[in-house]
Amino acid sequence: KTGTQIQLVEMGARDGLQNEPGTVPATVKVELIERLAAAGLRRIEAGSFVSPRWIPQMADSEEVFRLIRRRPGVRYSALTPNLQGLDRAMQAGADEVAVFAAASEAFSQKNINCGIKESIQRFTDVCQVALEKGLPVRGYVSTAMGCPYQGKVPLQDVVMAVRELIKLGCYEVSIGDTIGVGTPIQVYEVLSACLDVARPDQLAMHFHDTYGQALANLRSGLELGIHTIDASVAGLGGCPYAKGASGNVATEDVLYMLHGMGYETGVDLDALVETSHWICEQLGRLNGSKVALALGTE
Ligand code: HMG
Ligand code: MG
Repeated sequence: KTGTQIQLVEMGARDGLQNEPGTVPATVKVELIERLAAAGLRRIEAGSFVSPRWIPQMADSEEVFRLIRRRPGVRYSALTPNLQGLDRAMQAGADEVAVFAAASEAFSQKNINCGIKESIQRFTDVCQVALEKGLPVRGYVSTAMGCPYQGKVPLQDVVMAVRELIKLGCYEVSIGDTIGVGTPIQVYEVLSACLDVARPDQLAMHFHDTYGQALANLRSGLELGIHTIDASVAGLGGCPYAKGASGNVATEDVLYMLHGMGYETGVDLDALVETSHWICEQLGRLNGSKVALALGTE
C-alpha cells in the first residue's frame, strides 16, 4: 500500500450541509470550502443546483461559487439533476458536475421525482451538453446497498445503473450506500459486480455511516483496487430523502485509517481536524468524527 495515492472527494459542503435544519450563511459555506482546500483536499463538492423548493439549504449555491477564492489545482463540483441545473452550474463556473441516479425505483421517485429510466433520459441530455462544453461529469448510484423504501436492492440493478452512467460518458461513478446499511462482504460483492462494467479507476465509494460500517466497507473496496473515496468533514450530513440517514463517513476518520495503512492522500489531518471543530461550532452541532474528538481542538 505504501505510496498508493487515494483521491478523497470532500462532501461536507454539499451532502453535509444539504440536510442542516438551520440556515447556514453562504459566507460560512465559503469559509468551510476554502479551509478544506487549504487542508489539501483537491476535489470538493461545493454545492447543488437542484430545485430550491426541494432543497432550500442549497438555494445559495450560485453565491457560494461566486465567493470562493479558487485555489489552483482544486476542482469545485456541483450536483445537476437536469438541464436547468447544468445551466446554473455552468453560469456559476463549476469545474465539474454530477448527475445522480438510483438503483431503486422507489428512491428515484422520492429523490428526483421520476423513475430510473426517465432519469437516465434526462442525464443523457445533461451529459451531452456538459461534455460538449468540456465539463467532466460524475455519476452517482444511490441505494446500492439497500433502500429506505424498498429494502433489498438486487445486485443487477446496481450494475445496470453503473453501466448506463458510464455509457453516458460519466468518467467516474460513485457507489452510494445512501443509508449506510451495507456490511463488508456485501459491499465486496456489490463492488466486484460493478467491476464487470467499470474499471477500478472509474468507481468511487460514497458510504454514509449510519450503522457504523463505513470504514470496514471502504476496506472492501480498497482490496478491489478502488482508490476514490467520498467523505464528509466531521461526518456532516445525511440525505433529506432518506429519513434517519446520517452523514458520509468522516473525512478525518478515513484519513487516519488510510495514513495508518500506508496510503497517501495529500491531506493534512491536523488542519482538517481544526476545520472540523470550527464547522461544528458554527453549526452548533456535535462532531461526528471519532478521530476529531480523539485529537481534540489543539
Ligand atoms: P420537479 O418538480 O419534478 O421538476 O423536480 P420540474 O422540472 O417539474 O420543475 C418544477 C419546478 O422546479 C419549476 O419551477 C422548475 O423551474 C424548478 P416552477 O415553474 O414551478 O416555479 N426546477 C429548478 N429550479 C432550479 N434548479 C433546478 C430546477 N429544476 C427544476 N435544477 C428535481 C425535479 C430533480 C428538480 C427535484 O426533484 C429536485 O431538485 N430534487 C433534488 C433532490 C436532491 O437534491 N436530493 C439530495 C441530493 S442526492 C443525494 O444526497 C444522494 C447522494 O449523496 C448519493 C448517496 O448518498 O446515495 C448524491
Ligand atoms: Mg450521499
